[in-house]
Amino acid sequence: MRIGFFCSLVVYVFISACTPYTETYAPIEAIGVHPNKTVYIGMESCKECHATLVSDHIQTAHWLTSSKINSPRLLPLLEAEKNYFDLKDSTRLSYTFQNETLAQEASRFPFAAPFLVNSIEIIIGSGTKIGNSFLGWEDNSLYQLQGSFHLPSKQWMNSPGFPPVFQAKRSIFPRCLECHTTYAQSENWQSPIPIDRYNKNNIVFGIDCQRCHGEVVEHVKHHRKFPLDSTGKKIVRYSNFTQQQRIDMCALCHSGVGDQIFQPSFSFTPGDELRKFLNTQTTGAPDVHSNQVGLLTLSKCFLESEDMDCMTCHNPHQNERENSIKFNARCIQCHAEPKHTVSLVGKELDCIECHMPVQNSQQMKIQITSDSLVPVGVRTHKIAIY
Ligand code: HEC
Ligand code: HEC
Ligand code: HEC
Ligand code: HEC
Ligand code: HEC
Ligand code: HEC
Ligand code: HEC
Repeated sequence: MRIGFFCSLVVYVFISACTPYTETYAPIEAIGVHPNKTVYIGMESCKECHATLVSDHIQTAHWLTSSKINSPRLLPLLEAEKNYFDLKDSTRLSYTFQNETLAQEASRFPFAAPFLVNSIEIIIGSGTKIGNSFLGWEDNSLYQLQGSFHLPSKQWMNSPGFPPVFQAKRSIFPRCLECHTTYAQSENWQSPIPIDRYNKNNIVFGIDCQRCHGEVVEHVKHHRKFPLDSTGKKIVRYSNFTQQQRIDMCALCHSGVGDQIFQPSFSFTPGDELRKFLNTQTTGAPDVHSNQVGLLTLSKCFLESEDMDCMTCHNPHQNERENSIKFNARCIQCHAEPKHTVSLVGKELDCIECHMPVQNSQQMKIQITSDSLVPVGVRTHKIAIY
């Protein structure tokens, strides 16, 4: 950062000798606008001062979780074992690629000509664990296609939640995009009633900086004008947040789909109290899939320590998948000498393997062959003795 400041100072002094500062920077361009007046400007505008954060962030599951279809995202799909899968009612779904476009073709035995062809425009899911789902447009209606891609086995499969027989499409409601994009404006954005129609030109794909940091335009303008100011200005500060506010920002997407929704999707902003926006799970045990908050808050570690939150173990800006050395070091910070009667020989440093085991989700099951549903394994956040 310091070197950055120094360089920007040199550049600033040099350039400001001949031109006003506004011309020395790329213009601030809106890539989306929230009716609450938040303007989304994308991560390109952060690079000049937060270069490492940006280059780290583009490798995270958050950033990769949604985008329009593009060639890098198509590459893994081209390596599929075969480009079709069969459903129970002898419908075959095949996938074709031309230029940068991907289409799903549905045909019935003997699979001569397809009876339905849908083009696929949007990809959901980073593929870090399971794979990708695909969305397409019909006018302004957004729907999910039946086929998903299972990355670990490089196979096309039936999407979670679809029946084992052919279903042309499933509506995509704002809550789905609330968890998987930075912003999407539905036609009834003022209402919590789910609809599947959107303003196509007002969707910001990927979870970018502004999803967690909110409004930034004034921040950028301020720091361009005062390159020597080394304290972040005109931006929300997590260091001023309470434990609940810090957890709520993650809980928006990591405490389950929610039983009741009181406010329209995308109205929650960093610092807000989540319970005013939605009721997270009210009955039953939290599922390991997408409910890390529900599980962590049942753990003794959380209940009996001060200020534990997600950032105790996770750096929200980095892809730390399977960095078990770092995660175990976090445990040891608080548990320098845990008392064990079980033998830890060979596993001394593998706390999470025993105390946060991977468990099968009851909600998220995938169907790779036409007749078996396999639950997805997710690391539980209920830290306990198993
Ligand atoms: C012209 C330089 C500049 C630009 C452009 C810029 N920032 Fe900053 N930002 C700073 C400086 C300087 C700080 C204070 C030092 C630090 O925390 O890194 C800061 C701090 C921050 C903080 C921490 C606030 C706190 O104290 O908790 C966040 C969050 C942030 N910036 C987000 C962004 C985002 C998102 C973008 C892109 C939309 C962006 N910044 C663009 C200069 C800039
Ligand atoms: C806007 C919704 C949203 C918010 C806010 C959010 N997440 Fe996520 N997070 C997701 C989604 C969606 C995924 C899965 C992305 C995928 O794999 O496609 C994910 C994945 C993750 C992962 C797994 C990463 C991996 O490599 O597999 C971690 C860890 C995580 N989030 C932590 C956090 C923390 C900590 C916060 C709060 C600072 C947070 N998230 C806030 C939606 C969100
Ligand atoms: C409450 C937030 C939330 C909602 C709503 C939600 N997801 Fe997710 N989704 C997540 C999180 C968090 C993960 C990361 C894995 C986990 O926790 O099991 C994930 C994982 C995924 C993955 C797998 C990514 C990978 O490779 O690991 C896909 C695909 C996906 N979601 C698609 C969808 C679609 C399509 C919808 C809407 C129909 C949807 N999700 C609704 C939060 C959500
Ligand atoms: C998933 C949510 C999330 C996303 C996405 C995100 N941040 Fe952050 N960011 C946080 C949280 C939470 C903190 C507070 C960390 C803490 O206090 O431990 C933070 C802290 C910061 C800080 C303060 C210094 C630091 O590193 O802790 C800066 C600067 C910052 N973020 C910039 C960015 C930029 C730039 C991007 C996009 C490239 C970005 N953030 C994306 C959640 C996020
Ligand atoms: C911020 C400090 C902190 C961190 C980090 C932390 N714990 Fe704990 N943990 C505690 C406290 C406090 C307790 C309750 C007192 C005790 O049992 O030591 C606890 C309790 C436990 C227990 C006993 C649970 C029970 O139900 O009896 C286990 C096991 C445990 N922690 C394992 C872990 C593991 C594994 C990690 C890393 C993934 C971890 N802890 C991270 C503070 C922490
Ligand atoms: C005590 C440490 C600790 C805390 C606190 C913690 N996590 Fe994790 N988390 C882990 C470990 C360890 C993993 C497994 C990482 C791996 O293997 O890549 C993990 C994985 C995840 C994953 C990916 C799960 C999967 O199986 O794909 C998500 C999502 C996640 N954490 C979100 C959160 C959120 C949200 C919070 C705050 C409520 C949180 N975590 C708090 C330790 C922690
Ligand atoms: C082979 C599985 C295994 C591994 C690896 C393991 N534990 Fe444990 N841990 C247990 C079991 C089982 C217990 C219950 C007490 C007993 O029978 O030893 C326990 C008890 C605990 C307790 C509660 C007792 C106390 O001291 O308060 C804590 C805390 C704990 N473990 C932390 C850790 C940490 C930190 C690590 C990593 C350095 C770790 N464990 C590695 C299985 C394991």
